[in-house]
Amino acid sequence: MSTIILGIESSCDDTSAAVTRDCVLLSNVIASQRVHEAYGGVVPELASRAHQQNIVPVVSEAIRQAGISRSDIDAIAFTRGPGLPGSLHVGTAFSKGLALALDRPLVDVNHLHGHVLAHFIKEDENASVPDFPFLCLLISGGNSQIIVVKSPYEMEILGQTIDDAAGEAFDKCAKLMGLPYPGGPLIDQLASEGDATRFRFAKPHIEGYNYSFSGLKTSFLYTLRDALKENPGFIEENKPHLAASLQKTIIDILMEKFTRAIKDTGIKTIAIAGGVSANSGVRAAVDSYARRHHLRAFIPARRFTTDNAAMIAVAGHYKYLNHDFCDITAPPFARVII
Ligand code: KG4
Repeated sequence: MSTIILGIESSCDDTSAAVTRDCVLLSNVIASQRVHEAYGGVVPELASRAHQQNIVPVVSEAIRQAGISRSDIDAIAFTRGPGLPGSLHVGTAFSKGLALALDRPLVDVNHLHGHVLAHFIKEDENASVPDFPFLCLLISGGNSQIIVVKSPYEMEILGQTIDDAAGEAFDKCAKLMGLPYPGGPLIDQLASEGDATRFRFAKPHIEGYNYSFSGLKTSFLYTLRDALKENPGFIEENKPHLAASLQKTIIDILMEKFTRAIKDTGIKTIAIAGGVSANSGVRAAVDSYARRHHLRAFIPARRFTTDNAAMIAVAGHYKYLNHDFCDITAPPFARVII
């Protein structure tokens, strides 16, 4: 007997629904919200309103594209948190309503577990997946964590950011350069044409496996401020070099702790996940480290790095098999609770 899961994701500014059969992806529909572009960041109130408009057509389309009928669904998995409270409420309330209407169990998914378990989304029956335990570098707009993934149900955080996340470092520095939100993908693009040794920015000295990115942001700001006093055209003339030097610094910071954790734990399978794992430099650095040290590396397809419901369906699949269901009265949670 196969298991069909409908996944629903609404934690930030993407409304997404996906259907999986035994983790094989049947559909993954994402409606991104363009309404925030004019504001230079996600406006929570506008996000929840857009989710309300998108959720019914997105879920209907995911079911249609999967070629199933609603009665084939075994369980409904939804993102319960962390994320924006208003956005989470829309997905949570909708999922509860659908679970009641279809008389199917409800499975709540931690968004961060979803990112990590994105490696178990199978695009075809023979896709290879990580073996346990594996060490995952989870890098997104809101989080930077090194996690030992012991099983789909058991994850141990070895270290995490004590201030900004890696994605925030990209986005905030990009904003200082006058680039639109989100700046991460633009920095990635510009960096490919720049000289990464042109500028040097501060790197933190933090104990253990924890990260910090706020010092880098300040150092980037001071570099721009001092240079602009001498030359008002500094940013325009140096955009690719600034982007390349910034990206290299972020990658160095990420890799220093990640490789230390790899050595200390002796774990031979590594993975990256989250929005920043789409970054070309991060992907190349992890791939090359794994080759040099004979490790298995899992680098997700770019479409599974940012928020998507496929990863929620897969994380829900494992909880469903474990009979780990969610009470119909469970509220969403805004903050990290793993
Ligand atoms: O995982 P995600 O979609 O959102 C959270 O759940 O936080 O990650 C979004 C973050 C943003 O900060 C965005 O700038 C960053 O991922 N990002 C990138 C790239 N693509 C997305 N950062 C650097 N290079 C990229 N190619």
